[in-house]
This record gives sequence, structure tokens and C-alpha cells, in this order.
Amino acid sequence: MSSEFGKILKMQVFGQSHGRAIGVVLDGLPAGFKIDEEALYAFLSRRKPGTSRLSTQRQEADKPVFLSGLVDGVTAGSPLCAVIENTDTRSGDYAALTDLPRPSHADLTARIRYGEAVDMRGSGHFSGRLTAPLCVAGGIAKQLLAQKGIYVGAHLLSIENESDEAFPLHPTPELFAEIAAKPIPVISDDAGARMAEAVERARTEADSVGGVIECAAVGLPAGLGSPMFDGMENRLAAALFGVPAVKGVEFGAGFAAAGMRGSAHNDPYIVENGVVRTSKNDAGGILGGITTGMPVIVKCAMKPTPSIGKTQRTVSLSRMEPAELAIKGRHDPCVAIRAVPVIEAVTAFTVLDILMEGKTYGND
Ligand SMILES: Cc1cc2nc3c(=O)[nH]c(=O)nc-3n(C[C@H](O)[C@H](O)[C@H](O)COP(=O)(O)O)c2cc1C
Repeated sequence: MSSEFGKILKMQVFGQSHGRAIGVVLDGLPAGFKIDEEALYAFLSRRKPGTSRLSTQRQEADKPVFLSGLVDGVTAGSPLCAVIENTDTRSGDYAALTDLPRPSHADLTARIRYGEAVDMRGSGHFSGRLTAPLCVAGGIAKQLLAQKGIYVGAHLLSIENESDEAFPLHPTPELFAEIAAKPIPVISDDAGARMAEAVERARTEADSVGGVIECAAVGLPAGLGSPMFDGMENRLAAALFGVPAVKGVEFGAGFAAAGMRGSAHNDPYIVENGVVRTSKNDAGGILGGITTGMPVIVKCAMKPTPSIGKTQRTVSLSRMEPAELAIKGRHDPCVAIRAVPVIEAVTAFTVLDILMEGKTYGND
């Protein structure tokens, strides 16, 4: 298994859900940067389990311990290793799943790929818990980006059939902070209340729901990225598909662009304060793989949590015959809620990595 990402700034995620610990090694961070550990912990807390009935009841402090790369809170330039202990594990809940693979989880594919030795207790390395180290990496990236006037924020655009309003043309860091402070990260509180009801309905019916997360990166210079295979879209999509349960990634108008006319879809150019901008942003801030200077807008489709209490059809691998499965254990009825800071983290990390390559006008 190789869970590495990044070119100049690299992260390697390690651990399994019910092993001793999970964590991340970050290589390529600039030396001499003071990490605001309190702000980092506040960011990680947005993803933490067990904070409401709408998330899994697993209780974890999720406080990272820095084993290397940091002296008195300041990056030393050497690889930074952050470890998060696993304390609240109940592996018994997962014993039956070796024989009865959960539909739409990675139980069967992991076993086919890695054999009997694969550690799937608590979903192992495939668990949503592995998104905590992603948030350590991305939380640090967010702080480094903020120094350069670049901010990343996200919200729940929809859960099941309930929708929030979309980001305005120029989302602000203040709006990001306002959304981040809410238990359900949305722009419209009415939408948030309806989404909470939808999740609660699914939970009481031993079922789950999916949702869409809209993420924005603002303050990016125009000219970042490359055409064809190494563009801003390519790199972001590759990273975002690394988040468990992401099944779709689109930029700007995305799939809806296919149903539009050019006259409606094209973003007219305007000059604002001496800078070329566009009057709308169906391109999602990217043309030809290169940033336009408008906010980068990316949406992620999060599937419904595969582990549900409702009885489902599966097979017994030992008997090779049909079987039924009603999953026990503690699971999120909607992973999209806790995934919002994760999508921010992965977006921030990727943007910082590309920024560190310095691929702006004239450099390539
Ligand atoms: C924050 C977060 C929490 C998750 N929690 C659960 C969970 O409690 N139960 C579950 O079955 N899947 C959960 N998942 C999703 C699975 O990890 C994921 O669906 C599985 O690894 C298969 O990968 P795929 O959906 O990307 O194909 C979670 C995902 C995220 C991002």
C-alpha cells in the first residue's frame, strides 16, 4: 500500500483504524514556520467523531503528537511526523466481515488485493479515520496559504434532496469562518436544519445518506498549473479521489456544462481594479489546467455510508453462497458532514504543493 501524495510538498499517510496509531509524514515544509497548534487542533475538531448524533459515536481525542520536524512549534525543515493514537477501538464489531464482505465497502477488494493478512479491523487503512492525518497535513497547509493571502473553505451543498445555496462569486475568508463554526457546515441555517432532519431520518431507519461538498480556494494567482496531465484540475482530482467515499469530482459548472449553450456557459471577461477577471465563474477558476485568478471551485460527490444497519444481501466467502448482513458497530449515517474539513484539507495541501512548484507565467 502506498498512500503518498505531492511533488514538492509530500505527504505519506500511515496506520490502520484499530492499530496503535495513525499519522502522517510531511516532507518539504519550509523551515522556520510557526504552526498555530491551537488553530490546527480546532480545525481537526471539525472532523472529530462522536460530537453529535449525526456522526459515529466512536470517541477519539484526535490530538496529534509531533515526533519530528517541529521544535517549540516551529518547523525545522526536516520531515515532520504527526501521530494520532487510536484509543476507542472495538474490533469485535468487525469479526464477521472477514467472511461477509460489506456491500460497497473495501472489504472484498482489499482482501483480493492484499490477501488474508490485510488488517481490516475498523476498516483498516481504508477507514474514514485515516482522514484525520489528512487534516493534519491540510491544516498546516491552510496556515501556510493564509500567510500568502490564499484561503480555502467548504460547505455542504446538499444532503440527499436538501440543498444549501451555492458559494457567491467571490467567497470571503469571513464566510469560510462563519460556516466552519456551525455544527452543520452550511451557508443557510434553514438548509442545515433540513439536512440534519434527513440524516436523522436515515439514522433511525438504520440507513445512510450521501451529499455534495462545494469547496473554494480564493486568493490564488492566475497562471498556476499546466495543460494536459498536470493541471490544477488533474492534481486536485487525483488528491480528492483519495478521500474515502468521494465518487465524483467536478469543477465550476462541471457536468451541468454539458447541457448548456456556449453563450450561457462562457465566462465574459471584465476588468476590475486593473485586473482581468470574469463576471461569472462556470470555469471554476481553471482554464486549460491553469488558474484564471478567479476562485477555484470544486465539488465532491460523497456516497452514502456503506455500513448500514439495514439487512443487505452479500455472500459468505467461506461457503461461497448467498448470505445476509446487518452491520453492527458505530458508523456515520452521513460521511459528507465530517468530510467537509477533509475536502478543505486535501484542496489546501494540493494548492500549496502546486504553488511551491512556482509554475506561474514565464516559469515554464
Ligand atoms: C470522514 C469519513 C468517515 C467515514 N466513516 C465511515 C463509516 O463510519 N462507515 C463506513 O462504512 N464508511 C465510512 N466512510 C467511507 C468509507 O471509508 C469508504 O466508503 C470505503 O473506504 C470505500 O471507499 P470508496 O467509497 O472511496 O470506494 C467514511 C469516509 C469519510 C471521509
